[in-house]
Amino acid sequence: MVPQIKTFEEYKEQYELSVNDPEAFWGNIAENFEWKKKWNSVLEWNFSAPDIKWFNGGKLNITENCLDRHQAARKNQTAIIWEPNDANDAARHITYGELFLYVQQFANVLLAQDVKKGDRVCIYLPMIPEAAVAMLACARIGAIHSVVFAGFSAQSLADRINDASCKLLITADSMMRGEKKIDLKKIADDAMLTTPGINKCIVFNHKSSPVQMKPERDLWLHELLSKVNSTHTAEVMESEDPLFILYTSGSTGKPKGVLHTTAGYMVYSAYTFKNVFQYKDQDVFCCTADVGWVTGHTYIVYGPLLNGAVTLMFEGIPTYPDPGRFWNIIEKHKVNIFYTAPTAIRSLQLYGLQPVKGKDLSSLKVLGSVGEPINEEAWQWYHKNIGNGNCPIVDTWWQTETGGILISPLAHITPLKPAFATLPLPGIQPVLVDQKGNEITGNGVEGNLCIKFPWPGIARSLYGNHERFRTTYFSTYQNKYFTGDGCKRDEDGYYRITGRVDDVINVSGHRIGTGEVEDAIDEHNCVIESAVVAYPHEVKGQALYAFVICDRDIHNKEAVYLQIKNHVAKVIGPFARPDKIQIVKALPKTRSGKIMRRILRKIAEGDITNLGDISTLLDPAVVDAIVAGAAGLNEKNS
Ligand code: PRX
Repeated sequence: MVPQIKTFEEYKEQYELSVNDPEAFWGNIAENFEWKKKWNSVLEWNFSAPDIKWFNGGKLNITENCLDRHQAARKNQTAIIWEPNDANDAARHITYGELFLYVQQFANVLLAQDVKKGDRVCIYLPMIPEAAVAMLACARIGAIHSVVFAGFSAQSLADRINDASCKLLITADSMMRGEKKIDLKKIADDAMLTTPGINKCIVFNHKSSPVQMKPERDLWLHELLSKVNSTHTAEVMESEDPLFILYTSGSTGKPKGVLHTTAGYMVYSAYTFKNVFQYKDQDVFCCTADVGWVTGHTYIVYGPLLNGAVTLMFEGIPTYPDPGRFWNIIEKHKVNIFYTAPTAIRSLQLYGLQPVKGKDLSSLKVLGSVGEPINEEAWQWYHKNIGNGNCPIVDTWWQTETGGILISPLAHITPLKPAFATLPLPGIQPVLVDQKGNEITGNGVEGNLCIKFPWPGIARSLYGNHERFRTTYFSTYQNKYFTGDGCKRDEDGYYRITGRVDDVINVSGHRIGTGEVEDAIDEHNCVIESAVVAYPHEVKGQALYAFVICDRDIHNKEAVYLQIKNHVAKVIGPFARPDKIQIVKALPKTRSGKIMRRILRKIAEGDITNLGDISTLLDPAVVDAIVAGAAGLNEKNS
């Protein structure tokens, strides 16, 4: 059993210990898992290479820790509750015994398709238990899973498959998101036109939608399952063997395949789950994220299962069939811990209190928030109306690259402050640095957030591009991991994340690189160049504003705006559609040709009274023209 901190005093003691003797601290926690062989050293590291090894020399399989280990005590206990998109369909309850069996069978299915240790498998599935089963089956045989969020387009899916040279794809016939049907297999078929490495595609029959099955390549999961053995002995993995790749966006270039390895990720996900949420045996934990993002990996699948928890997976959306859906789920399944994103809270806030009225939310003990800064108004609404004023909100700050939560209150333990992620977890040493890289000490300060010491969940590389890993995270500030976030530390030493300081935009908690959207826009046949910036949005947190130069005079601007938006949705996915587009004659560039995004951001925000110094621009008159154009844009702009 992973140790659980009980008091604020204990938190402070553990924090001290974790900084003074990190090896003793993490070694002690790691003792609580099943190892085939103990590690030789707890930590070997150097941030300049970078080269980070946790529990080196150890041997284990993470799925034995998620499944085999719980069979004696929890065989008949629910592991996964699945709530379907359609509220009238039956929920599924899968016990630890059933999950263990399913994962072993699925592992044998993968082996029968010649998937071997170290091979990459792409998972493109709805929010259904099979997504977790597929991930665990990969981990069981030592294959590296790469889950792609089912909202991504065929092209984005193909790019990710090719970047990781996946040899097998797991998908489903179709899925429903609210009333919208998404033909996943059709999207996968389109993607597979350009993925020469994929030999086999396993299809789960989710909705019995008609699909085209390509002979030899496409196989039904249920047919494969009927042919395999139901026992499988887990592959023995080294601590530092890769567990999964998960793509995320950066400021520039194509998405990065963040690589996590086995033992450190296991220890960190289990420890943070149990401590941040203060999970108690039999609590029902509900995280509304998608397994296509890191939150789903760590806090729907691995963190809960490692702790023998009950984890609830929800297939649908917060507003279907009505905006009371989340609250119905809490009532129906007696959810004790509810973890969601600020954007969902803000969107539900708009419907007022009617959808909450009469719902029995008394099972709730802890509320969580993740993915973007939570504004104080949303925090108060969530706290008062959902948590009845007595559930702490754990505002958890972390990233795909960090594997698990780094800065957050411990529920019922850390004194809260609305809109603050509060204090670092044991083992996490945050520092604020100024533009020159100097550490900013003391309290009541603001700077760029770095972490100066490794923790077990930190990513080890970017798949196939270690040099990019180094330059992205470890070269801006010497000997520090740079998060890309700005941060304040207040008088009490509490941390408040202020948002990205690079060109990454956080739209409804989805991390989007401006470069990716610009590349997609530039593919449109009348676009010469574009620049995308963020502006604040009431519900989404941030929204995308694209400034576009066309190669001709456009008479029907609205039609072009719509075409561009649809094109971005097609190339990346619907969540990356720009909200506003403005056609401009030129972009504000410096003499060296660099776009001054600072100015565009101000214009997008409607803050044109002080645009700052524009004297370094090649042609300052460009700015007046853009400001005039922005004033004439339609409210809806589509
Ligand atoms: O800007 C921070 C924001 O989300 C970024 C990481 O995005 P991603 O890798 O997609 O992971 C999201 C889920 C962990 C961060 O760099 N972010 C995440 N959580 C918070 C946050 N910003 C403020 N407060 C948070 N609690």
